[in-house]
Amino acid sequence: MAEQNGVKVVVDRDKCMGHAICAQVAPDLMDLDDLGYNITEDLELPADQAVQAHRAADSCPEGAIRILQVGE
Ligand code: F3S
Repeated sequence: MAEQNGVKVVVDRDKCMGHAICAQVAPDLMDLDDLGYNITEDLELPADQAVQAHRAADSCPEGAIRILQVGE
């Protein structure tokens, strides 16, 4: 199987409105504060966590989570 590239997860805190759906979809990846706002620092993840990262990004109605490809 060909090796897959990892991804970088970047949260735009200015866009986050505290919906907290991302943390339900990807509880291992997303950190929320006490009010439910996303305080996740930039994350670099191996390819096997990329699907979960994309699910979190897709779940956010504000588009506050971006997924960048790493190592291309
Ligand atoms: Fe914020 Fe979107 Fe998650 S609004 S808490 S990044 S679902």
